[in-house]
Amino acid sequence: MKCDLGTNPQPISTHPDVDGTPQSEARRDAPTSCSELSQRVASPRQDSRQFRLPSKSALDHARARERHFGRSWEELRQWPELELEIGCGVGWHSLKRAISLSQARERKRGLIAIERTREKFEAFARRWTRHTPEQTAHLTAIQADARLWCAREIHSPILDQVWILYPNPEQGRPQRNWLREPFFSHLSQVVKPKGRLTLATNSETYFRDAQEALQLWKHVWKLDSQKSWSQATHVDFSPRTHFEKKYFERGEHLFELELERCAE
Ligand SMILES: C[S@@+](CC[C@H](N)C(=O)[O-])C[C@H]1O[C@@H](n2cnc3c(N)ncnc32)[C@H](O)[C@@H]1O
Repeated sequence: MKCDLGTNPQPISTHPDVDGTPQSEARRDAPTSCSELSQRVASPRQDSRQFRLPSKSALDHARARERHFGRSWEELRQWPELELEIGCGVGWHSLKRAISLSQARERKRGLIAIERTREKFEAFARRWTRHTPEQTAHLTAIQADARLWCAREIHSPILDQVWILYPNPEQGRPQRNWLREPFFSHLSQVVKPKGRLTLATNSETYFRDAQEALQLWKHVWKLDSQKSWSQATHVDFSPRTHFEKKYFERGEHLFELELERCAE
C-alpha cells in the first residue's frame, strides 16, 4: 500500500546547514507552490556550494577511461526527449525502461544509463546481449562517473526524466546524499521545465536528508516535490531494480521522492 508521507520533512533540528541557514528558518521560509518558487527565483538565496566544472584536463582524463555500448550519445542527444539514469547498476531497470520506450510509437525518447563500476557495467553488457536490437534501440549505456559525464556533456535543459534508484546511502555521511552534493544544482538545471527527477531509497535517513535539502534549495533549483511515499508490503508491487527487489523481499520500507522542474 502506498502511504503518502507528504512533502514536508519530519521535525528538524535548528543547527545551521550547508549555507549557514538554520534549518527551521529555511523551512519556515519555504515556498509552497511552483508559481511561488518561480517568483522566488528572481532573488534566490545564494548557493554557497556552487558546482564547479572540473578542469578540462580532468574531464579529458575521465573521458579517456569511459566506455559505452548501444546507440551513440552523439546520435541520442539529437532526440527530442531524453531520460538519464544515474547509477544503473547491472541495468535491469534501464533495459525494461528502454523496452517500454521503444514500444511507445508516438514519441522518440532515449535513455542514457550510467554506471561507474566495471563489474556492474560488464554484467549490464551481458544482460544486454539477451535483448534484441529493437528492444535496446532507445538506449545508450555508459561506464563513467555520472557527475563528470553530465558536467561535460549536458549544459542545457534537455532531460525529461532523471532516475536515481537506490544510491549507496553511505551511513553517517549526509553530504554524500545526491541532493546535498553541489553537482545537484547542475543536474537540476539540465532538467526541462515540467521534467521529473525520481529518487528511490530504502534508507529513511537518506530520504529525510533529501527532503531537507529540497526544502533549503528548491527555490534555487526550481524543483518542487510532487510526491513522496513509503512502499509497504504490497502484493501488486513489481520491483524495478535489483536492489529494489532485494529490499522488497526483505520486507523493508522503500521511499521515493518525485520532483518536478517548475514551468518557466
Ligand atoms: C546500490 S547500487 C543500485 C544499483 C541500481 N540502481 C539498483 O537499484 O539495482 C548504486 C549504484 O550506483 C553506482 N554509482 C554510485 N555513484 C555513481 C556515479 N557518480 N556515477 C555513476 N554510477 C554511480 C554504483 O556503482 C552502484 O552500482
